[in-house]
Amino acid sequence: MTAEELVAAAIAARERAYCVYSDYAVGAALLTESGELVTGCNVENASYGLTICAERVAASTAVAQGHRRFQALAVVTRDAASMCGACRQFLREFGLDLTVYLGDPSGAFRRVELAELLPDSFGGHSVDRG
Ligand code: THU
Repeated sequence: MTAEELVAAAIAARERAYCVYSDYAVGAALLTESGELVTGCNVENASYGLTICAERVAASTAVAQGHRRFQALAVVTRDAASMCGACRQFLREFGLDLTVYLGDPSGAFRRVELAELLPDSFGGHSVDRG
């Protein structure tokens, strides 16, 4: 799958965002090591702190489907924003070697690496992630 295709999947996922409080829709598309596509969108809640970001929805869905290794992630917002800190750490759990495409609804994107977004990160201790 190309970067453009992954960004297109995130654009489509963003259409399903439940963002009635912020009106800030986010779509995420994760490409697993084995080539499967898993998507997510942000899901907000009247109790604001319960809101889940698109990236964590995608990663959690992927894990629930049996995937723990990922090649790339596309995130689409109206302004090609970067990922929040919580999502950087959440994704880091499954490896720092992740390419991230930050895009907007036109399909334009820039490429970064998770290791750049989260330098000198905490990776856990003596944890068997098998
Ligand atoms: N949001 C994400 O889905 N991902 C991020 O990386 C940053 C923020 C969502 C949370 C909330 O629903 C909306 O964007 C505004 O913060």
